[in-house]
Order: sequence, then C-alpha cells, then structure tokens
Amino acid sequence: MDGFAPADAVTSNAAARAGPPLGLLAELTHRCPLQCPYCSNPLTLLKAADELDTRGWRSAFEQAADLGVLQVHLSGGEPTLRADLDDFVAALSARGVYTNLITAGVTQTRERVARLADCGLDHVQLSLQALDAEMSDRIGNYTGSLARKLDVARWVREAGLPLTLNAPTHRHNIGQAAALIELALELDADRLEIAHVQYYGWAAKNRAALVPDYDAVLEEAAIVGEARERLKGLLNIDYVTPDTYAQFPKPCMGGWAKDVITITPSGKVLPCHAAEILPLPFDTVRDKPLAEIWYDGAAFNRFRGDEWMKEPCRSCPRKAVDFGGCRCQAFALTGDAEATDPACSLSPHHGLMAGFAEASAAAPPPFVYRRIGRT
Ligand code: SF4
Ligand code: FES
Repeated sequence: MDGFAPADAVTSNAAARAGPPLGLLAELTHRCPLQCPYCSNPLTLLKAADELDTRGWRSAFEQAADLGVLQVHLSGGEPTLRADLDDFVAALSARGVYTNLITAGVTQTRERVARLADCGLDHVQLSLQALDAEMSDRIGNYTGSLARKLDVARWVREAGLPLTLNAPTHRHNIGQAAALIELALELDADRLEIAHVQYYGWAAKNRAALVPDYDAVLEEAAIVGEARERLKGLLNIDYVTPDTYAQFPKPCMGGWAKDVITITPSGKVLPCHAAEILPLPFDTVRDKPLAEIWYDGAAFNRFRGDEWMKEPCRSCPRKAVDFGGCRCQAFALTGDAEATDPACSLSPHHGLMAGFAEASAAAPPPFVYRRIGRT
C-alpha cells in the first residue's frame, strides 16, 4: 500500500473544522439469517461472544446523544437478533433521538414489531432481495424469505411506523424496478431505495455474478425517472446507480467523517461501514470517549477536508461535490486510499470499470454465499 502520510501531517486543521455527527450507524451484530453474495460487512465477521455488551452499547448511545447525534440507524447483520434491541430503542427515544431499524425482516414477528413501536421506534427500513419467491430465496440463501418480508412490511404499517423498502440491485433483479415501485405503493411505503450494490469486501468475490448489463441499467434509469415525476408527494424513490458505468463517483458518506459515525459490533468506531479495510488506526468505545474519537481520532481526521487529495482531485472543481469519491473503493481497487476513486472518468484507473463491465456479457458464475466463519 502506498500513498500514506502520517495522519496528523495532512489534515492538521480538520478536527477544528468538524461539526458534530448527525447520524450514527450502530452495527449491533454481524449475525444474520441471510447469506447475500453482496454482503457489505467485513470479510471477517465477529462472533456473538465478542460483541459489545448491553452496557457498552447503552454507554455508546448516551455518548452519541450528548455529542449531538440526531438519528441512530440500528443495523447489522440482523439487529433484531439482539434481545436488548428494545431497551436500546427505548433509551434512545427517551433522549429524543430518532431511531431507524434496518432489518432483513425474516426473523421478525408481529409481536416484536408492535413491541418495538411501543418502545418508541420511529422508522423501519426493510430489505427486499427480489420480487419473485425463488429468486429472493436464491439471493439470500433462505427459504420462504419473500413471504416473510411482505408480512413484516404489513406489520410495520399496522404498527403505525413509516416504512422504507430497500432493494439492493444487480443483474439478477434489475428488471424488477417497475414491479418494485408498484409494490412500494401497495405496501404504503414512504420511500423506496433502488440501490446498486458496491463491489468491495465480500461483493468483490461475486462481481462477475452480479454486475449488470449497461442497457439494463439505462432501461431501469428511465423507469425510475418516469416514476419519480409521476409519484411526487406519494413515494420518494432513491436511486443509486452502479459505479461500473459512472462518469463521476458518488459523494460517499457525504464526505469522510463529515456527518456520520459508525460503530461496529465489537465497538470499533469508523467513519464509514467499510473503513476497516483501510490501514488506519481505529479506536474503540471500549477504550476512548466517542467525542474524542470523532473530533481527534487519527482515522477520522485522515481524510477530512481536501488537503489530503492528489491530482486530479486536488485541482478539480467537483471536489466539493463528490470529495474524490469513496476511500474504501479507491483503496480496494488501487491499493492507495488517497487515489481518486476509479469510478471517476478522470481517474487513471478508470479502465478497471470497463473490465468489470465485460463480465456482464458472460453467463453469471454461481454465488459465493456469505457465512459467518467463512473468509
Ligand atoms: Fe471527483 Fe476527483 Fe473525479 Fe474531480 S477528479 S470528479 S474531485 S473524483
Ligand atoms: Fe468507506 Fe466509501 S465506503 S469511504
């Protein structure tokens, strides 16, 4: 790995400029009933015995509220596998913090959904793997997944909670955008996220099985664009296009350590969910106060601001828009975390994307499923 300077030599004023984080992504566990081939959790998953305990999470949430966090996204793995989830929701609600449960749904019951609503849960984001039962089961490697998820969606609305449907998208389900939009309306969802998967971490093993064809992406974009206009005020549709065909990268996380803080199941504190792949010194809430990590942590200050950027980002007018793209993707594909994200057409590594796109022309290989203990 090249391109690394000491953290404090690059962004000496970054900490002074940082405001408080607005959101916290709390990855309560890596345990998950699904085994999706595009899983965004790290290559080495944490076992239940090593997870931060109830007291550790309660302390982290109290510190987050003190720090100014307004929203906590309770995620995983599958966060409902933590028996103390209900306590966390109640405690956060008592502090006036907005809580969003990010769930695969398949292990939920009607009673648990109602109980979480009673504890003060504000919102549920439910993932959908595909809209036909066979494909849904094949992607998550879980039998009966679609019917369970649709039940959960109905229980969420029955409990009076707003619902977002999240559809990770790739070549096997890219033709389902129109049906997804119809389903979101039928289920009375507020929001639908049609989000192409990212290819770092586990998903990189399945890139050839998942990268969609360019024409299919164009067709999907047209369907989403038309529906967004037609359904204004009825349904919000977020659309995350695939980096494989991008001209410019996405502003990953809205900028490094700008608004969001992530805590992993072990208590490690990260600027983004994938950051553990980067060779940075990450702190944990077991060892340091959250405020100290956010403002003064070496990893948090490493890519704050733009002083760390190299060309072509350094002199590019878009650097205030996309912040040079994703640090994790840049490192995963180039070995240099300071490099311009290869999703950018100005990156000297942009040709990698054309190579990935070629895979979409061949028959997809079988999925390499995600399993705890498998690396
Ligand atoms: Fe963004 Fe850097 Fe590409 Fe400019 S060169 S568009 S700042 S990634
Ligand atoms: Fe880490 Fe994009 S996922 S910066």
